[in-house]
Amino acid sequence: MSDHAPVLLEEVLAGLAIRPGGRYCDATFGRGGHTAAILAAIGPGGQVVALDRDPDAIRAGRRRFEGESRLTLVQGSFGALEARVRAAGVEGELDGVLMDLGVSSPQLDEAARGFSFMQDGPLDMRMDNEAGQGAAQWLAKAGEREIADVLHSLGEERYARRIARALVAARAEAPITRTRQLAEIVAAAVPTREPGKHPATRTFQAIRIHVNRELEELEAALPQAVRLLAAGGRLCVISFHSLEDRIVKRFIRREEQGDPVYAGLPEIPPHARPRLERVGAAVRPGADEVARNPRARSAVLRVAARLAA
Ligand SMILES: C[S@@+](CC[C@H](N)C(=O)[O-])C[C@H]1O[C@@H](n2cnc3c(N)ncnc32)[C@H](O)[C@@H]1O
Repeated sequence: MSDHAPVLLEEVLAGLAIRPGGRYCDATFGRGGHTAAILAAIGPGGQVVALDRDPDAIRAGRRRFEGESRLTLVQGSFGALEARVRAAGVEGELDGVLMDLGVSSPQLDEAARGFSFMQDGPLDMRMDNEAGQGAAQWLAKAGEREIADVLHSLGEERYARRIARALVAARAEAPITRTRQLAEIVAAAVPTREPGKHPATRTFQAIRIHVNRELEELEAALPQAVRLLAAGGRLCVISFHSLEDRIVKRFIRREEQGDPVYAGLPEIPPHARPRLERVGAAVRPGADEVARNPRARSAVLRVAARLAA
């Protein structure tokens, strides 16, 4: 099974401003690359609660970190971050929350997970492959308009309508159940190709984001992460495409401003005050990291600090 190289590792540790004895949440455990580095930095008195919605990630994590009493691993989605952290028995405020969004290398590399058009596998794409409906089930039932909307809005695919039409025509002949089959239908439907990009890249991205409700999960998690943080605690989010990054950037900006209804008033109630302060500019990997790990190429890290209430 493939491993996952943690992206922007040094930058994340700096962004979290790790302190010995601190308490951190890694909301996207993956294969534990960031978690391992956090554990190494927090010393014997620190604590990490790590979440992943992928049961394989949690199983691999239990093996890798067997006997590590400072780590609590939780299988579940960060859309319910607060409840899951509390249910894991972690009380009080956290010093940092990390979200390293998107998919892990093992998810992409394992054909059976159905994320990749590079190798043939069942068309699944669920991060939690024990719950909900996979890509094939969605594609079997969705209307042509709905498919086109998903490809357009979540894949920024300019040929969304053509591809949707081709998919609906193809499924009338035979169900679309394999990754290769989907990639071939898309490739045949698009008239031009982006250099260096497989013609199905955007379609796969869009369907994956849709099937896993990735943007909704992110929107739900960000305010919960802020509520979990102690004053001075850090929020670090790594995004891999512009739709995610836009949500993170706008969220931090809103939280820096506080509730606009109270803008300019002398007395601002606590619930309407700014809750975050941006820390530095967005961070992108350097050329050497991208050369070592091409999957880091589109990463953007944003960091913010929790303000005192
Ligand atoms: C880029 S990988 C994280 C890699 C990790 N930082 C490491 O160093 O190994 C993203 C992980 O987040 C998980 N994930 C994505 N969305 C999630 C969500 N809404 N809730 C929980 N986990 C999620 C995926 O299953 C995947 O394992």
